[in-house]
Amino acid sequence: MSEYAQLIIDGKEHTLPVIEGSEGEKAIDIRSLRNSTGYITFDPGFGNTGTCRSAITYMDGEKGILRYRGIPIEHLAEHSTFVETAYLLITGKLPTNDELTNTSVMLNDFSLLHENMKVFYQNYPPKAHPMGILSAMVNAMRSFYPELVDIDEELNKTFLRLISKIRTMAAMAYRISMGHQPVTPRPDYCYCANFLHMMFDSAVVPYVKDDDLVKALNVFWILHADHEQNCSTTAVRVVGSGKVNIYATISAGISALWGPLHGGANQAVINMLETIHKNGMSIEEAVARARDKQDPFRLMGFGHRVYKTYDPRGKIMKQMCDIILGKLKINDPLLDIARKLEEVALEDNYFQEKNLYPNVDFYAGIVLRAMGIPTNMFTVMFAIGRLPGWIAQWKEDLTDPEMKISRPRQIYSGNTISDYIPIHKR
Ligand code: CMC
Repeated sequence: MSEYAQLIIDGKEHTLPVIEGSEGEKAIDIRSLRNSTGYITFDPGFGNTGTCRSAITYMDGEKGILRYRGIPIEHLAEHSTFVETAYLLITGKLPTNDELTNTSVMLNDFSLLHENMKVFYQNYPPKAHPMGILSAMVNAMRSFYPELVDIDEELNKTFLRLISKIRTMAAMAYRISMGHQPVTPRPDYCYCANFLHMMFDSAVVPYVKDDDLVKALNVFWILHADHEQNCSTTAVRVVGSGKVNIYATISAGISALWGPLHGGANQAVINMLETIHKNGMSIEEAVARARDKQDPFRLMGFGHRVYKTYDPRGKIMKQMCDIILGKLKINDPLLDIARKLEEVALEDNYFQEKNLYPNVDFYAGIVLRAMGIPTNMFTVMFAIGRLPGWIAQWKEDLTDPEMKISRPRQIYSGNTISDYIPIHKR
């Protein structure tokens, strides 16, 4: 053992091994702690707990670094596509030309939905949130596509089926919520153009492919494709650790993503900016309310468990926001509010002391609005982007000899042994 930690409990010394990651990050291996000492660790929210070794994504929250399989997010956003990045995350390597073509062909082959699945959509109430629909539909895929998933080839097919169909299901949820007929995918379009086509094509206004918007959507989804052990990915790993099928596992990830502290933040940011706009609230008042502990108001799109500097995804999203709004000649008052809010918050002591910076969601909603995506679809857009990451993490767990069923401990704080009192004596 080259490096170790010493723990002294009641005067008795315990030696714990230290493990080191490929970027030099260190962990005290406490797997033997309970057996050798009777103690457990206490870490609500897992802020100091490593639950796996992972070769997928590297983040440095202090320096604002994010890399997928070693490749900086900035390079992928500039040069790659969402499909190529998905391939990289899931397989661990960039595809050759043939591999990428095969992947695209299979994504096309899988893009239609089973006719019987479409019936479900008709019966959701018109205002049903698309995240609830998406989570239920992905879970339902297990019944429609029950193929074996323990052979490599079938497993890869299942991954591509999921990545392809989630896009069709998401667009269909939107069309039906609008009372419109679903649009059939076009095999001649790439993944992102096909999604925009299925969302917006109509007999009255046919969808016209715009390369800048297709590029913007590729970048949006690349930025969301993985983020190591966040809330929804942890949900995926925990649910998957019980060896449940992949559809149910991904459905759990979608549910975990829905919350406003996680993937729902992009929708919450727009709601916040609209409230500020409609109520004529000053930026200074908004920042003061966010500082006030008695007020539940928070600056949505600010802060992060890991990043203690500007979220690198947020920087790219901000640049994209300027490009897309400039190109479409959109003058969005919410963008002006967002820019001013960022400026004031970054100068504010409270935000500086707590290292609260804009995260990926701060400008994401404005980009999505400019693309014509309705607010209640924002978190669905995040889910489509995060799917390759969830799949990669689930796959990694599947072959990890160290993995066990997730089963944390607790510190019991309830009654000690108590008498049962019959009801007539209570
Ligand atoms: N506005 C005002 N105060 C904040 C904010 C905020 N957005 N975020 C954190 N704080 C304060 C918080 O009140 C706490 O103060 P104190 O130390 O006095 O109790 C301190 O900063 C630390 O915050 P925390 O909530 O303990 O930190 P966390 O790591 O548990 O939470 C977070 C991280 C992202 C949930 C939180 O920053 C937050 O609620 N942000 C707004 C929601 C949001 O934008 N979420 C999207 C995250 S990025 C997308 C994703 O990957 O999911």
